[in-house]
Amino acid sequence: MTHNAEPRPAVARQSEALRGKARVPGDKSISHRSFMFGGLASGETRITGLLEGEDVMRTGEAMKAMGARIEKNGNEWIINGVGNGCLLEPQAPLDFGNAGTGSRLTMGLVGTYDMETTFIGDASLSGRPMGRVLEPLRQMGVQVVKAAPGDRMPITLRGPKHAAPITYRVPMASAQVKSAVLLAGLNTPGVTTVIEPTMTRDHTEKMLQGFGANLDVETDEQGVRHIFIEGQGKLTGQTIAVPGDPSSAGFPLVAALIVPDSDITIENVLMNPTRTGLLLTLQEMGGNIEILNPRDAGGEDVADLRVRSSELRGVVVPAARAPSMIDEYPVLAAAAAFAEGETLMQGLEELRVKESDRLAAVARGLEANGVDCTEGETTLSVRGRPGGKGLGGGTVATHLDHRIAMSFLVLGLATEKPVTIDDANMIATSFPEFMGLMKELGATID
Ligand code: S3P
Repeated sequence: MTHNAEPRPAVARQSEALRGKARVPGDKSISHRSFMFGGLASGETRITGLLEGEDVMRTGEAMKAMGARIEKNGNEWIINGVGNGCLLEPQAPLDFGNAGTGSRLTMGLVGTYDMETTFIGDASLSGRPMGRVLEPLRQMGVQVVKAAPGDRMPITLRGPKHAAPITYRVPMASAQVKSAVLLAGLNTPGVTTVIEPTMTRDHTEKMLQGFGANLDVETDEQGVRHIFIEGQGKLTGQTIAVPGDPSSAGFPLVAALIVPDSDITIENVLMNPTRTGLLLTLQEMGGNIEILNPRDAGGEDVADLRVRSSELRGVVVPAARAPSMIDEYPVLAAAAAFAEGETLMQGLEELRVKESDRLAAVARGLEANGVDCTEGETTLSVRGRPGGKGLGGGTVATHLDHRIAMSFLVLGLATEKPVTIDDANMIATSFPEFMGLMKELGATID
């Protein structure tokens, strides 16, 4: 298992122009959900473009442990699901490795079953708060049989004979919490309602509708979303083509903006509006990003992105944009390090509970490489140095966080001195092809 492997440092060096075409792997959020919903639905689900990162594979293993049949045939994953309400009690703890999405959504999916399920994970995942998911599950009648202090993993859940439908207002902007409650609602009689004051990624809603769930969304005058799901309905297997992950696309994208004379095209990127905050921000900063061939692919917007090196300038990134770029702040910080003036990012409270405390990890990594920045309680400001003269030369602690690792390797492609990261192993959780893809475009990483 990678999370027990020896740390593998990596070094990024100032690179020649990045050129060429690239395709990033499938979207992580959609890939997790494809395995989950395919494993749950009746009949066959066929998936192409799936992200074969470690996090998603853990979700696949969990679904297999609960009765789904999952196999790969050529480029296609074929799943035979158990049918809604028919998951089996796993015989061993479900090990989710580094994956917050896999574990939190699965807690919702199985929590309401009248069986015992234990969740374990690596050191990063075991430090993350699970109370945000356990709290609504408790209201539905789920018992938390065991948990480490602070509602942390290892966690054992036991569902009631009959779960109670609830109306739950999500207290923080979190697609994982929203999704966990909706998935718990699938195995609950009656209608479970989730109220979402700030819209987050809507893959659960869209995909469940695609699988045939009786799910409706109403948005009130204040812009608050009310999501209704009727439990115990039938789900039917689907054919899914997973589009490229915009969060992964962020790495070559920022690299091409900051490495002089670059010109790359990233093909087939998901453009769902709940995921495009980074793109908007980089365009506001003066980034030369062309959106080519916008099209519909299986109900999702996708496009190709042509990116050329640009002179960036600092901007204010408002808190309201955080949900649509929540995983992209570390790589935005790398872009901001080369922008003229200050970039101020607001509303970052959720960054503190990601795979690492990303706000602190980014600030320490920037400081180690001579980038002038200020970490606030929920803000980060970065004062950039166009050209990157004098920057770099530091070693970054990645804290088992794939996005910290990739963001600082991107930074090092344009700093005067090399940037070292202490461990590249975790990159495999979300973007196993990262090193090869970046080198193919011309990046110097060793
Ligand atoms: C995800 C939701 C986000 C995001 C994560 C994937 C999802 O987490 O950071 O990488 O697939 O639902 P939160 O719900 O904690 O914001």
